[in-house]
Amino acid sequence: YPTERIRNFSIIAHIDHGKSTLADRLLELTGTIKRGKGQPQYLDKLQVERERGITVKAQTATMFHPHVLSSNHGTNQNDTPSFLLNLIDTPGHVDFSYEVSRSLAACQGALLVVDAAQGVQAQTVANFYLAFESNLTIIPVINKIDQPTADPDRVKAQLKSLFDLDPKDALLTSAKTGQGLEYLIPAVIERIPSPPGCCDMPLRMLLLDAYYDEYKGVICHVAVVDGALHKGDKIASASTGQTYEVFDVGIMHPELTPTGVLFTGQVGFVVSGMRSTKEARVGDTLHHAKSTVIPLPGFKPAKHMVFSGLYPADGSDFDALNHAIERLTCNDASVSVTKETSTALGIGFRCGFLGLLHMDVFHQRLEQEYGARVISTIPTVPYIFEYSDGSKVQVQNPATLASNPGKRVTACWEPSVIATIIIPSEYVGPVITLCSERRGEQLEYSFIDSQRAFMKYRLPLREIVVDFYNELKSITSGYATFDYEDDEYQKSDMVKLDILLNGQPVDAMATVVHNLKAQRVGRELVEKLKKFIDRQMFEITIQAAIGSKVIARETLSAMRKNVLAKCYGGDVTRKKKLLEKQKEGKKRMKRVGSVDIPQEAFHELLKVS
Ligand code: GTP
Repeated sequence: YPTERIRNFSIIAHIDHGKSTLADRLLELTGTIKRGKGQPQYLDKLQVERERGITVKAQTATMFHPHVLSSNHGTNQNDTPSFLLNLIDTPGHVDFSYEVSRSLAACQGALLVVDAAQGVQAQTVANFYLAFESNLTIIPVINKIDQPTADPDRVKAQLKSLFDLDPKDALLTSAKTGQGLEYLIPAVIERIPSPPGCCDMPLRMLLLDAYYDEYKGVICHVAVVDGALHKGDKIASASTGQTYEVFDVGIMHPELTPTGVLFTGQVGFVVSGMRSTKEARVGDTLHHAKSTVIPLPGFKPAKHMVFSGLYPADGSDFDALNHAIERLTCNDASVSVTKETSTALGIGFRCGFLGLLHMDVFHQRLEQEYGARVISTIPTVPYIFEYSDGSKVQVQNPATLASNPGKRVTACWEPSVIATIIIPSEYVGPVITLCSERRGEQLEYSFIDSQRAFMKYRLPLREIVVDFYNELKSITSGYATFDYEDDEYQKSDMVKLDILLNGQPVDAMATVVHNLKAQRVGRELVEKLKKFIDRQMFEITIQAAIGSKVIARETLSAMRKNVLAKCYGGDVTRKKKLLEKQKEGKKRMKRVGSVDIPQEAFHELLKVS
């Protein structure tokens, strides 16, 4: 396929506006999957994705479609030429915005799907700007026009006023009834430019994604920007210099289909003997080992913004958790893992994530796909602490912050971000309040039009990893658009907050907070713990302390708990059942010192900021 007959595009949409359904319809229309036969929602596979309505791992597919360009109508053409269309899927959340931007970098156009009843929503705006910044041709698609409450004209007006998109360009579809779908592919072919690369230049490929396959090893998704890649070629990574031999190369149609070669403008897969997905860095440039090229712009190594300790809920499950984490990180190289030991929780792992949702998803997959039961510690960001002896260390686990008096902390720096927030103007007040509660510094505040405000804040990363996004969404009825980019470390007055049970600090509950917030956070943590720890046979004191100073305290009085108390008479099976149940319940407890703490208590602590 000459590049003139290739189109690379994405579908971008707010959650639930019909992106996956529409993608399936396109695959059916082009005969890539059989109607009704294909797995429902081919491009949206993971259970956690279905449950949460987000796309975590991008899937990509190649389709073929015959089409005569309108500019060629009337000219003497015997055959209808076939076009090669690459649908490049994107993950759907701000944690993954770097991966979205890499996927979009391989596209020349995007279908911007908007629900005809709900209209433009927060993610529509975020996605529009990501596509716009990548200079993509945007085709507005107003979907779900079959709904009784559909109001395509209102949506057209929104698209015009928000994004200056011409209402005449909007396509009206129903992925459910099939109405209007026939115009989609012609629009993609007619309106989206072909990829700009050059066949005669040395090979440059953008690495879009990678996953681990039990039989084939690491499979990379790539977009060939210049040149061509053949089976047997020797390639190298521009970021690591590592070289590999190409064992297999082909397209996703939608299953892996070997072709032996990928030409300029094509998107496909490469199997090259990489041992782990850690070697396959999203955004990296791959090139022929023998040639030197200028790497494609925009590469960033995965940046771990949030760290948390993961421990088996039951001590004996360590091997199972270890195995599950190994399997899962094979397919998600953006998680970093190191072993760590906690006096409270035993042996576990310190994991680094791109953001809080990424962390949640990882958890959920550990539990759902690998049956691992995990306790996670309060998420933390990487701080830099300076000690009185002049040494500086990066701290990813608050428990490791030295509390010995000979080595005082003299200064602390915390990572910060520049956040962009776009909201309907009526929500300006609550958003300003939220940002100042989260120690934000306003950098910019203006109005995009009569309905929308634009704000820029410098915010400590710590303040956004704990529930900021949810809070922002809830105070703005879901309309807020939020995105962030890294900023410099800022000097800050942070302190280590310890939780003590019966006078013993619980290392897994230590956290770092701003001095001014320590009192409130300490109080909330202590109250939460009191609620979630069952009374036991002895009194328990729960304290929050900074150094040797106790700032909050609760006491849980003693109680004897006898599950058999309600069993009258001698029904042995019932007794057994209850005892079994109690044993089962115990499994989900962690014994810290002499206190049993249910797993839920750890989960609840995550929500305190
Ligand atoms: P994420 O992948 O979760 O971001 O969502 P999505 O944008 O892919 O949405 P999805 O395709 O999963 O569709 C969401 C819901 O809308 C599903 O229940 C679909 O069946 C339904 N849906 C999709 N298109 C249409 C349509 O044209 N009309 C109607 N009535 N429902 C639709």
